[in-house]
Amino acid sequence: MTSWIAVDQPEFRSRVRQLGLPVACLDGHWSSQVADQTGLSAVLEWRDGLVQLRPLDKALGNPVMVDFIHGKTGFRFLRAQHEMIVKAVAGRSKEPLTVIDATAGLGRDSFILAAAGFSVQAIERHPAIACLLWDGLDRASLSPEGATVAGRISLQWAVAHERLANLPESERPDVIYLDPMFPERSKQALVKKEMRLFRDLVGEDLDGEALLEIALQTARKRVVVKRPRKADSVAGRKPGYQLLGKSSRFDVYPV
Ligand SMILES: C[S@@+](CC[C@H](N)C(=O)[O-])C[C@H]1O[C@@H](n2cnc3c(N)ncnc32)[C@H](O)[C@@H]1O
Repeated sequence: MTSWIAVDQPEFRSRVRQLGLPVACLDGHWSSQVADQTGLSAVLEWRDGLVQLRPLDKALGNPVMVDFIHGKTGFRFLRAQHEMIVKAVAGRSKEPLTVIDATAGLGRDSFILAAAGFSVQAIERHPAIACLLWDGLDRASLSPEGATVAGRISLQWAVAHERLANLPESERPDVIYLDPMFPERSKQALVKKEMRLFRDLVGEDLDGEALLEIALQTARKRVVVKRPRKADSVAGRKPGYQLLGKSSRFDVYPV
């Protein structure tokens, strides 16, 4: 798995303070000794006005950053109502729901759900990924196109199991959405360049089963799990129904 550090630049430290990242998020990861570290494969740094994770190993593809406004995500959020994830999460509800995205990653699914009008609590446990997402959400909140959508998302750096287990009754969401990192299948070995570093950094989410259990006890209406189209359901647990896409599907568990 990728070893990484946060590059100790004054601009980066002040950005972290400005974002209000939890103090401990990057503690223990700061280092100015980038060149001297053996076995280091990526650095989290401040460059050209944003936080990025830059691979030092070319095989890990391109730098990773979060940009909700331009490129693919920008286009998708403009037509969020047509996205299958929105149909899976909304079910038959017409009113805007509250959603916990317990595996937020780079936040694309959270952003699409927020663009569809849901209020989203995003939880991410990896400190470098949480930092990238914090930065991307903040930039989106400053843009005319993204401000309203970003305003519907609150981000927490936490382990979702722990957060869900300690959730006060009044904060239980209508829907919990899970998209754990699944094992790579051989056909996917050449994962898209922008995904290689991300995948290598977070590894596989081997505790997805336990997360589904606690999500089922916490959600008020349903739990939605994203899976590769042909994969088994998590823990072999049969969903109430499924929505099928080209390469992935959504398993819906009404509660
Ligand atoms: C496949 S990615 C999610 C991608 C995301 N849906 C998106 O649209 O960008 C899975 C992410 O969930 C995070 N994760 C997995 N289990 C978690 C847990 N129990 N608590 C918090 N984060 C978790 C991983 O660190 C990883 O960043």
